[in-house]
Parts: sequence; C-alpha cells; structure tokens
Amino acid sequence: MSSTVEHRCDVLIIGSGAAGLSLALKLAEQFNVIVLSKSTLSEGSTRYAQGGIAAVFDEDDSIESHVLDTLEAGAGLCDEEAVRYTATQAKSCLQWLINFGVPFDQEKDAQGNNRFHLTREGGHSHRRILHAADATGQAVQTTLQEAVQQHPNIHLFERYNAIDLIKHESAKNQCLGAYVWNRKLEHVEVIRSRFTALATGGASKVYQYTSNPDVSSGDGIAMAWRAGCSIANMEFNQFHPTCLFHPEAKNFLISEALRGEGAFLCHADGTKFMHKFDHRGDLAPRDIVARAIDFEMKRLGADCMYLDISHKSTDFIVKHFPNIYSKCRTLGIDITRQPIPVVPAAHYTCGGVKTDFNAKTDIDNLYAIGEVAYTGLHGANRMASNSLLECVVFAHSAAQHIIDNADKAHFEQSIPAWDESQVGNSDEEVVIQHNWHELRLFMWDYVGIVRTTKRLERALRRIELLKLEIHDYYANFRVSNNLLELRNLVAVAELIVLCAMQRKESRGLHYTLDYPDSLENPQVTVIPGRQPNVKLADK
Ligand code: FAD
Ligand code: SIN
Repeated sequence: MSSTVEHRCDVLIIGSGAAGLSLALKLAEQFNVIVLSKSTLSEGSTRYAQGGIAAVFDEDDSIESHVLDTLEAGAGLCDEEAVRYTATQAKSCLQWLINFGVPFDQEKDAQGNNRFHLTREGGHSHRRILHAADATGQAVQTTLQEAVQQHPNIHLFERYNAIDLIKHESAKNQCLGAYVWNRKLEHVEVIRSRFTALATGGASKVYQYTSNPDVSSGDGIAMAWRAGCSIANMEFNQFHPTCLFHPEAKNFLISEALRGEGAFLCHADGTKFMHKFDHRGDLAPRDIVARAIDFEMKRLGADCMYLDISHKSTDFIVKHFPNIYSKCRTLGIDITRQPIPVVPAAHYTCGGVKTDFNAKTDIDNLYAIGEVAYTGLHGANRMASNSLLECVVFAHSAAQHIIDNADKAHFEQSIPAWDESQVGNSDEEVVIQHNWHELRLFMWDYVGIVRTTKRLERALRRIELLKLEIHDYYANFRVSNNLLELRNLVAVAELIVLCAMQRKESRGLHYTLDYPDSLENPQVTVIPGRQPNVKLADK
C-alpha cells in the first residue's frame, strides 16, 4: 500500500461558491479551515449569477409577502417553516454581504438619499431583488474571494476533487473528512477534519443543455448518498426559460430580470404568447414559462423562441444589462434593436442532501449548504433569486451550529486507508467520453421538461447499464476528473429518475403526461442513503 499525503483541519469545506466561502468567513476566527475547489476558486454557478438576491428592503414589501410568493412558486411542496426562516434571515444576511463590500446597485429616492435599486423577477409580487447590474454573482464571488484570500486561518486548495467522504470504521455515524484527488499531482490525498461541509453546488450538468458551468456535476449529492445520507426532492430540476440560443454561446443565460423590467417572449414574427399560458404572462414562475416555450417550440417546429426588450431605451438597457448587452453584441445580436433568440436549459437542482435548519445532514459532523442541499425552501419550483439567499442563510446557520458544538467533535485515530496498489491507468478514455454524452442526452430527451413513465423506465434501464460499466472502470483504473464526475452524474441521474417515478402526479417542475393532474396531499420524495463505497471496499 502506498503512503498517502494527509492534511488536517477543524473544518473542511468542499466548494468555494457563495455557500462555501460564506461558511469559511463565518468560522475563520475560531477555526482552522480548508476550502476545496474542483477547478479554480472562482469557477462555480455563483460567479455566473445574474439577476440578484431576494430580500425585503422596500417599505411597501413584507416578509409575509416574500413567504407567500415563495410558497406559491413552490407549488404546494415547500416546507413553510424553512421558507419563513429564510425570508426572516434574508435582510441580515444581505447586510452581512453589504458589510463585506458587495457593490449592490443603488439609486436616489425622492428625497435624494441613496437606497438599493430593487429589481423584479418571475413569481415576486414586489420589487425585492438586490443586484449588481446583471452580474450579481461575479460581485458576490469576487468580494468573498478577496476576503478568504486574506484570512490566515483559511487554506485554499484549488484543483482538488473530493472523491468520497470518510466515515468512522466502527458503527459510529460520523464523518471524519474526505478522500481528495489532487488534480495537479494526479494522486489521492486524505483530509481529516472535525467538521465537514458539502458546498458543491448543483447537478444540472446531468442534462445536455444547461446554464451551469462544468463543475455542476452533483458530486456532493452523490458523495453524501454513498456515505448514507438521505436525498430528497430530486425530481424537481429547474429549467431556466431563457438561455441564449447561439452556436457560440455555451451556457449563456439571459436573466429573468429582463422580463422583470418589461421584456416579453414572442415568436419569430413578434407574436406574444405567454398570456395564453398564465395570467401573470411573462412574469409567471419559471416552470410555467419554460413549459410554455417548450410547447410553442414543439408546436411550431421552431429551434427557439425570442425575448424582446428593444422597446426600452438604449440607455436603460445598457445601464441595467451591460453584461448581457455586450455578450450578445459580440455574437452579432444588438438587443437594443432586435429580439434575442432563447431556449430553456437545465439551471437549478431543487433537491439535494436532506438537512435541518442547522444545515446538518443525517451523518454527524457533516453539513450541506447551498445548491447541494435540500432545506425545503424551494419545494417543486425555486423562485428566482432565492438561491444565493439560501446559500448565505444556511452557511450562517451551519457556522453557528459548528461553533456551538465545537467541543463535541474530535479527530479520530484511525481511518480506512485508500488503496490503489492494484489499479492501472485507463487506456480507453473514449469509453468515459461516450458514456458522458449518452447520459446527458438521454436525461435531456427522457427526463426533461415533459416526462412519461415509459421514458423514465427507459432512462433507468440505461442508467443500470452505465452503472455497471462505471463501477468496473472505477474499481480497476486510476481516478480522473472525468471518471469521478461521470460516476457522480450517474448517481444523480438515478436519484432524479427514482424520485420522478415515485411522483404519480404533475406538480411544479415535474410534468408527466401520464399523470397530468396534481394530488391533494403531496409528499416530498426522500431516497434513503446508501452504504459507504470507498475504493478499497469496491474491489
Ligand atoms: P457553486 O457556486 O456552484 O459552487 C460550487 C463549488 O463546489 C465550486 O467551487 C466547485 O469547484 C466546488 N465543487 C464541486 N464539486 C466538487 C468536488 N467534488 N470537489 C471539490 N470541489 C467541488 N441564483 C440566485 O439566487 N440569483 C441569481 O441571479 C442567479 N442567477 C444564476 C445564473 C446562472 C447562469 C446560474 C448557473 C445560476 C444562477 N443562480 C442564481 C443560482 C445560483 O447561482 C446557485 O444556486 C448558487 O450560486 C450555488 O452556489 P453554491 O455555493 O451552492 O455552489
Ligand atoms: C436570472 O437572472 O434569471 C437567474 C436568477 C435565478 O436563477 O435565481
């Protein structure tokens, strides 16, 4: 057995987006923290967030209204307590970000005083979204990143993939850290920790077309499931209605804030259509808008629909949407003069690792925060701009719980060793590549915006085959980023299909032609955890 490099810290945070960095900053005064990121520190969904973060700042708005809008968007499946908790914490969490220096847009009120400019998005009955033009995520990520980079107690491990969580060898249900893949040196290392937090983001890369960056491969959800955590609500993957349709625009989002500021959806000839589908028209919740676009595209045999904001002044468009304006401009689309071609794409994972209000999972000393978690906030459909909010709110809750329980968690003497003495290098990378494409394509075709039982069964059969091949690969060859991500994506695909098959109704983001109606007493779908599955045990 080869000797493995080992690190130790009080708190291991896997992920460096809004959730992970917020947690690190809340803990760094008292603890020694390691933050892991699979790619560069800045690469994750956070950096690409456009619209903003929801919180009640307007005098005419109320927490009750934020709660009611979230419940309505969630289509009867939100946990009302979680919604109330999040909406109530929102303002102080936003203030925390403001204190760190996140440059949210401001405007003058009638008396000439500065106040935050609030925009609107689908499902919100008030203007309540703080934003930094149309690049809010970039502002949040940069600000938090600068703070963690300066902190002596925060150690940043870039280009490290967490592979699996380490659990106690005895019967204790306790997390002891993680096995990690050092991508630069191409070997496995061990990080022992007293507390571990998953902040790995979502899993939208399981679909062929997505607004998400490459790192969104559901690693945290898959790792937690393998370690024994319950996973919930996975049938609800959100499709954002408006991603740019252009061959050179990989994953580029056209923010819902455009519709909040008056843009409308239309056919190629300019005909509006959203009022046919919902009385809220272009500002209906996302599930409804994405389905309407999908319906119109299929009905007309069209490659895309269009989003038009060209009736607004050029000054207004360039001031509010500088990022979208210039990206489209580089691709030859002048949004001040012409409509923008758009299509829906996988955008957000509403389900995830089941947690309580302290962000605690089923395993002791293991937390899950941000998009990787299922807190009950989003129900069957996440309302716009509630996600970055959830990242910060639950990072703060986890931090408090860790601080309160610091004296209860210790380093364990022995942990199961990683063994790759009997594995070799893969000579058939093409198999991994092929499986990648196959998985993402059938998930798009069979488990996408409109589902049927037959399509779900077909997808599950393919998942079973892929699982066998990947298991064989994983057991016999050295790990690589592609193999690790594929192994996780197949697990996530299985979770999505298993949850979707259990739901015998249509609700929110889950729409099936076989059960088009909603049931009266819907339940959240929960899949129990599996047993630990480290490489040693695999062989
Ligand atoms: P992320 O920001 O995705 O970060 C995940 C981190 O985990 C990364 O650092 C990654 O490297 C790391 N990681 C993953 N797997 C591993 C592994 N195995 N080992 C080590 N590290 C790992 N939400 C809003 O509220 N408002 C918006 O305006 C908004 N706009 C959006 C626009 C776009 C284009 C997208 C894609 C999303 C948007 N969202 C928005 C959703 C929101 O951005 C995300 O839900 C949120 O940023 C997730 O933050 P996170 O910290 O949980 O994860
Ligand atoms: C957007 O700007 O449309 C994305 C907002 C979100 O996903 O919350």
